[in-house]
Parts: sequence; C-alpha cells; structure tokens
Amino acid sequence: MIDHKAVLAAHPASVPRYTSYPTAPQFREGTGAVLMNALLDDFPAHEPVSVYLHIPFCDRLCWFCGCHTKYTLKYAPVKTYLGYLRREIELYAARLAVRPHLKSLHLGGGSPSLLKLQDMVALRTSLAGAFQITPDTEISIEIDPSDTNDELYDGLVALGVTRASIGVQDFDPQVQQAINRPQSFEQTRDVVQRLRKIGITSLNIDALYGLPLQTSARLRDTLEKCRDLDPDRMALFGYAHIPWIKKHQKMIQEADLPGRYERFEQARMASKFLQNAGYRAIGIDHFAKPADALSKAAVAGTLHRNFQGYTTDNCRTMLGFGASSIGRSDGGYVQNIVATGQYQGCVEQGQLPVLKGAALSLDDKIRSHIIERLMCDFSICFTSLESKFGEAALPYRDEAAQLAAQDRFGLCSFSGNALTIPLSARAFARIVASGFDAYYTRGTAQYSQAV
Ligand SMILES: C[S@@+](CC[C@H](N)C(=O)[O-])C[C@H]1O[C@@H](n2cnc3c(N)ncnc32)[C@H](O)[C@@H]1O
Ligand code: SF4
Repeated sequence: MIDHKAVLAAHPASVPRYTSYPTAPQFREGTGAVLMNALLDDFPAHEPVSVYLHIPFCDRLCWFCGCHTKYTLKYAPVKTYLGYLRREIELYAARLAVRPHLKSLHLGGGSPSLLKLQDMVALRTSLAGAFQITPDTEISIEIDPSDTNDELYDGLVALGVTRASIGVQDFDPQVQQAINRPQSFEQTRDVVQRLRKIGITSLNIDALYGLPLQTSARLRDTLEKCRDLDPDRMALFGYAHIPWIKKHQKMIQEADLPGRYERFEQARMASKFLQNAGYRAIGIDHFAKPADALSKAAVAGTLHRNFQGYTTDNCRTMLGFGASSIGRSDGGYVQNIVATGQYQGCVEQGQLPVLKGAALSLDDKIRSHIIERLMCDFSICFTSLESKFGEAALPYRDEAAQLAAQDRFGLCSFSGNALTIPLSARAFARIVASGFDAYYTRGTAQYSQAV
C-alpha cells in the first residue's frame, strides 16, 4: 500500500510531463536549423509523416491557459499568420524532392476552431501540395466550443477532419468564473451534436483537475456531464500553474487552488469515475473506450507519447508548422521561433523558421525510449531494450535495478529483467521517469506539479 501523502511530501512539486525527452527547456538555439537541414537532405522518402500545425490565436483569454497563444478579437492578424503558415508549408514542399504520405495531421493552438471556411480550404490546398492526403489520413483539430458557428462545420468538412478534441475544463459556474472561461453544458452539447451530424464521430473531451475553487464534488459533476456527451476519449490534465511563465495565470487567486493532496484526490476520484463509466485508463491522464484505437494501442504496447499527449501515431518523422511548433525525427527535436512576429519575418525572407532543437545522442535515445515506455506501459523490459539498442543498453538495466533498490515508497520494482510501476503508483509515473532523466535537477521551478 502506497503512502500517497508521504510520496507527495517527499518529492519535489516540479517534474516534467515527459511529452519529449530531452524536454523542451533543454532545446538550444542553433541546433534546430542544423537538424532540420540534415533531415531535409536525407528525408525518408517512402515513409509516412505526421504533421502538427499551430494556430497561436484565441478570441478569449482563459486565465488558466498554458498554451502558446495570443488573445485577439480581430481576424486580420489570424489571416496574415495563415498566409505565412501556408508559405512555410510551401517552403518545405520546395525543399523536399518527394511528396510524403501524410499519415496524421493535428491542428492545435490556441484555437484552430476560429479559422474561417476559406482559410480552411486554402490550408488544405497547401497541405495537399506538399503531402499525399489519402482517405486513411487522420485529421484532428482542437475546438473551443465558444467559437462555433455555421461556417466552422463547413470548414471542418473542407479540411477533411476525422477527429475533434473539445475543450471543457470544468462546467461549474464558479470554477469557470475563477478561470475566466464561461461555457455551458448546452453550448458544448450542441457542438458535439453538430460535429456528429457532419460525420465527425471520433471525439475527445479535455477536462482539468486542480483548478481554482474546484472540489471533487464539482469535478464529479463535470465528469457526469462529459460522460453524458459520450466521447470516445477523455483527457484529464492536472492544471499546471506556472505564472512565472504565463503571466495571465496571475489572475488566478492562489488561495483558491486546491492543495497538493486535494489535487491528488481529485485525480484519483476522476480516474475511478471514468473507469466505472466504461473507459480504460491510458497512461497518466487519458481515458478511452475499449474499442478506441488508443485503448487497443495501450493493450498492444504500441502507444506513443508526443507533444499532443498519448497517441497511436508511430511515424518516425513529425513536421511542425507555425510559431512555436515542435517537430521530431530520428536525429532529434526541432522547434520553430515562438514569437509570432519573428516567425512571420523569417518566413517572409524565405527561410525555414526553425530555431531551437536537441540533437539526440545514443544516451538520449535510450533514455527517451525508457521514459516513453514507462509513461505509456508503466514498465520497461530490458530484454527488449537490449534487442533494440544492443550492448549499449546494459548499463541502464543496472541503473533501473538501483532506482528500484533506492525507492522507499514502492513506486517501482525490478524483477524478471523489467522495471515496473505498480497499479497503485501509476499516478507517480512522472517521478519514476525522472529517475532516468539525465538533465533533470530536482526542485527546478520550470515544470508543473508531479501530480
Ligand atoms: C490548446 S488548448 C484547447 C483548445 C481550445 N482552445 C479550448 O480551449 O477548448 C488544449 C488543452 O490544453 C489544456 N490546458 C491548457 N492550459 C493548461 C494548463 N495550464 N494546465 C493543464 N492543461 C492545460 C486544456 O485542457 C485545453 O483543452
Ligand atoms: S484554453 Fe483554449 S481558448 Fe482558452 S486561452 Fe487557452 S487555447 Fe485559448
């Protein structure tokens, strides 16, 4: 039996979410361009790729928001940005000698749901010029239910969207007031119904725990409403309070935030609730119906983790377009310029707007694999690590055995040549994973709370 209170008290509040390894704070200027040029010169021509498009605009500013986005009520800056986004895609198309198969496309933000129909059509045209889009291409988009108008649904059809992710966060009016995000259940239900009507049947809902004024009872009420909307997947993220990075989070009264243990109890209650409602727990913060592809991948051990969270996407290459977007290849991670104006200026000059990056050493690759398997499967088998990396993997087995031997709380155990996080300690997977992070310094304030 794990003493959750003791674990929370003993471990630093701040641990990476491991949507990449090395994590984004390790990316360095200059590295990105070198990596990107190497990738484009030696592009895996016959392999499918996945693409992430970032839309850094919203027509509301939620105080809890940790995303790279800008509040604007005018469409002109969005339209200008989209012109540059299309130019960036065209710059890549001109550099690539091939037109790779697009396996999956994700539009994130910000709020891509504020794009107008003609811009969705134009984006699709640019993408189709650079990539082969086929009927099996999965196209997903993040939707803020307050954006929706008749034009949006035509836009989604024009773009060929197959999966939608809807932001809910919490339905309680007091919590909504504390995070500046009014959104009724009825409004959200209408969006879900409209999406299903146009044939987008694969739906995800995002909810949060650890929000100001949130209680387990309020969260439960939100989850009941979400369950009634019958999504295929749910993401339940812990609110990351990082006001030293996201200044608008200072609008949130810290006295209203639940304590660490209360947060933990909210997450535990929510996980139980969703599993009782028929969802399978996936990794640390996702839930999916048993027939959903994410559930099947979790069972098969083929789940992956990237900047969008848990995914079935197994492409070796992901290209990121738009300000701040992150791409990945065998060589490492690349990140575009974050500031929208500078990003646009770079594209204007006909240059790829890549700035930061992290080239992966063999040590990084092995640690990245171990951390991804721990975050996805809660276990890492050193026999399969050795068959993947050969003798180079041997020292990591000893590291794992030592980690388990030093663990006072029962967060992991080593046996049968595998390190395993028991069911009761899964909420602490980030802490166990951090044991393999060569860059992690305990107590740094750049990450969010471990649970
Ligand atoms: C790009 S946003 C959502 C899309 C859309 N703009 C919306 O708000 O509905 C993606 C998700 O990130 C999560 N998120 C945003 N800020 C967060 C924070 N500070 N901590 C944890 N999750 C956060 C929210 O659950 C949100 O739905
Ligand atoms: S939560 Fe969504 S709508 Fe709100 S500011 Fe963030 S990205 Fe924009």
